[in-house]
Amino acid sequence: MANPFRPGGIVEPEYFVGRKEEIIRFQQYLRNTQEGNPHHLAILGERGIGKTSLLRYLGHISKSQKCLIVRVEFDPATNSIEELVLLILAEIKRAGIVYSLIDKSAERFKDFFQKYNISVSLGVAKFEQREEKAIETKIEFRHRLQELWDKIKGKIPAIIIMMDEAEQLEQINGSLQYLRNVFLRLSENNCGYILVLSGKIGLFKQIKELHSPLARFFTPVTLGPLKPEEVKEAIEKPFLTVKRNINTKLINKIIDDSQGHPYIVQTIGYVLFEQNKRELSLLDYEVLKPMIMKQLGDQLFRDMLDKTSPEEQKILNVIAKSKKPLEMKTISKMVGKASNQIGTQIKRLLQQNCIKKVGRGKYELFHKLFGEFIIDNLLFQKML
Ligand SMILES: Nc1ncnc2c1ncn2[C@@H]1O[C@H](COP(=O)(O)OP(=O)(O)OP(=O)(O)O)[C@@H](O)[C@H]1O
Ligand SMILES: [Mg+2]
Repeated sequence: MANPFRPGGIVEPEYFVGRKEEIIRFQQYLRNTQEGNPHHLAILGERGIGKTSLLRYLGHISKSQKCLIVRVEFDPATNSIEELVLLILAEIKRAGIVYSLIDKSAERFKDFFQKYNISVSLGVAKFEQREEKAIETKIEFRHRLQELWDKIKGKIPAIIIMMDEAEQLEQINGSLQYLRNVFLRLSENNCGYILVLSGKIGLFKQIKELHSPLARFFTPVTLGPLKPEEVKEAIEKPFLTVKRNINTKLINKIIDDSQGHPYIVQTIGYVLFEQNKRELSLLDYEVLKPMIMKQLGDQLFRDMLDKTSPEEQKILNVIAKSKKPLEMKTISKMVGKASNQIGTQIKRLLQQNCIKKVGRGKYELFHKLFGEFIIDNLLFQKML
């Protein structure tokens, strides 16, 4: 059997665990939308915490209710609202065609989607007309969406537009406000659109600002680690399917070492599964730990560490060596600098999700295995 653990990959719906509250909330929003009161949301969280997986799972649920799911994948070349608009329309067309081909009851929309016009009037505007053209495009976009809803309402319950890695929208000036304005108007006209964005929490500044109009529009849903019983389920289920067993001590060790981080749970599961053993125990884990650390290093930790400056690495090293959260003044003393000199670095490390704030003014690494990686990998540690 192929390894069912896929670090960084998509988890099969039968192996999806937890996120109960988020799913209930989404289903409630879906109902509200169908009753003419649309809601929109933003799924936020650190790297590997399960944003894409939840997005896919919500797509899976909505699909079973016959909603039209539109997935918008950004490419870094999308750098204006006009390009964004065209991308969304193109994805709607594509999703609509697939939907009408797969679902017999939607066959009557096939023609509509195949002819669905996605070329809003960008044209080749003269420089002085560019501004007006941009406004025209934006208005046309809303009309296109309205027209689509008018066509399918009563037959398709809702249209769910999902945008993963939507922190990239922060690079397109005004795009979040623009989407809000468009979908606010559509909601007022009782169009059944739900916009679901997802993005890395440290980078999605505009949505994170509580009480901002954007945060009120895109209800933020912040993902945390999986609960211990969810980690147990995520590990056990795939093993039990093939009648293989993991003993309780090992499960508890995985709960402890992974701290509920889904990507790390998957990596541990992946390495253990590769062993092809009927029974796995704590001893197997200890033997495999270097391999697990190597994979986590290659696929997650090294990239995070490479994005930091030498000064920031010194801070990380100090925190990694401490077994408990540290206050700013302790960190500054240990790196030999005044608190106000390390403020910017701490802020950046928070933004990059390398560290997190715990309690009042204390900091710890985003994950304890990241600490083990740092200690093993930073050469200058001996000098500190
Ligand atoms: N609820 C879940 N149940 C089981 N496995 C999960 C769950 N959520 C995430 N995973 C697994 O954890 C790993 C990371 O998840 P995912 O890619 O969804 O995270 P992400 O937040 O989108 O990461 P990134 O910030 O890198 O985009 C994947 O291998 C995925 O299969
Ligand atoms: Mg993702």
